[in-house]
Parts: sequence; structure tokens; C-alpha cells
Amino acid sequence: MNVGVRLASVRDRDEVLKIVERIEVAAQLVLAPRSSGWQYVEIGLRNCRHRLYVAEGQKTDAILGGGRLEPGGFSYFVHPEWWRQGLGLQIARQLLTICCHRLPGETIRLAIRRGNLSSIKIAEALGFRFSGSDALMPHALVFELEHFDLGPHPGGDCIERH
Ligand SMILES: CC(C)(COP(=O)(O)OP(=O)(O)OC[C@H]1O[C@@H](n2cnc3c(N)ncnc32)[C@H](O)[C@@H]1OP(=O)(O)O)[C@@H](O)C(=O)NCCC(=O)NCCS
Repeated sequence: MNVGVRLASVRDRDEVLKIVERIEVAAQLVLAPRSSGWQYVEIGLRNCRHRLYVAEGQKTDAILGGGRLEPGGFSYFVHPEWWRQGLGLQIARQLLTICCHRLPGETIRLAIRRGNLSSIKIAEALGFRFSGSDALMPHALVFELEHFDLGPHPGGDCIERH
């Protein structure tokens, strides 16, 4: 299944919430302490520095995953029923392109919870390298990507729909 990423709108809120609550996204993602799935979505809809994206299958309008811009990087998630089918890598690759267009020339960082093997595989497949841990996030590993060959901006897919 191929997926395309677009900016989330308020109409996507309930569908995305169902997914992130099911994954317990706050436990999986490296977020601020006491941050919840609901906050992940709400902040992503309201704050352009944490802009929320959703990923839809090309043959269906259903939301299969998504992600969010984070300081200096991004995060991503996939509906559990679609895990291990390559969607995580597709979504992360598209978010990386978006992120690089927003932060041209800057090092992109991913904070990945220790033991999250699939996420580490995705980071490494995209060219990220382990750079250490962060004293403020002892449960996380930091991966960095310094140079990324920017493809075309996925503009049409990223038009905000409110
Ligand atoms: C992490 C996550 C996005 C991966 O999504 P996914 O669609 O299953 O990922 P993919 O199918 O693209 O798999 C990526 C790689 O991880 C591997 N993988 C998937 N699940 C795995 C697991 N449980 N253990 C080990 N490797 C795993 C896949 O085989 C693939 O590696 P390969 O290319 O060498 O075969 C998904 O599990 C998720 O949403 N987790 C909760 C949120 C999260 O942790 N986000 C990442 C933090 S930024």
C-alpha cells in the first residue's frame, strides 16, 4: 500500500485521536512528561511549529498514520493494524522531505525511545546516524541527519484543509 502525507485539519481530529490513543502514542513517542495522545493531536492542529500530518492510502480515504513536526525534527506513527507493511518508512520519508524544506541546511534530529527497534530501523534506512543520548530525555536515543538530498516539495499534498 502506498500512502501520501497531507496536513491534518480539524476534521481529521477524531480519526487521528482513535489511532494515537490505541497506540498509546504518548508512551511510544518521546514527548514531554505527562503529555497525552490528546495533547499530541491538539497541539499538532493548533501550533504550526508542531504541525500535524496525516497519511492516507492512495486507494482509500482512511487515515492509516501520520506524524508531527517537532523542534528540529519530526515524529511519526502508523495505525497498529498496518504495522510492518512499510508504511512507517514511507511516512517518515515524506515528513523528512517536508522538514528539510522548512529547515534547509539544518541537521534534522529524531528522538527515539530506547528499544523502539522499528523506529530505529526507519531512522537508519533514511540515513540518520545515532548521535548519543540527551540528558533531558534519558529514555531516548538521538539520531541525526546532516545532509539530505531534497526531492520536490510535496506541496499539493500539504495544503491545509480547515
Ligand atoms: C514505529 C512505527 C511507526 C513503525 O511503523 P511500521 O509501519 O510498522 O514500520 P515499517 O513497516 O516501515 O517497518 C520499518 C522497519 O522496522 C521493522 N520492524 C517493524 N516492526 C518491528 C518490530 N516490532 N521489531 C523489529 N523490527 C520491526 C520492519 O521490518 C522494517 O525493517 P526492514 O525495512 O529492515 O524490513 C509504528 O510501530 C508505530 O506507529 N509505533 C508507535 C509510534 C512510534 O513509536 N513512533 C516512532 C517514534 S518517532
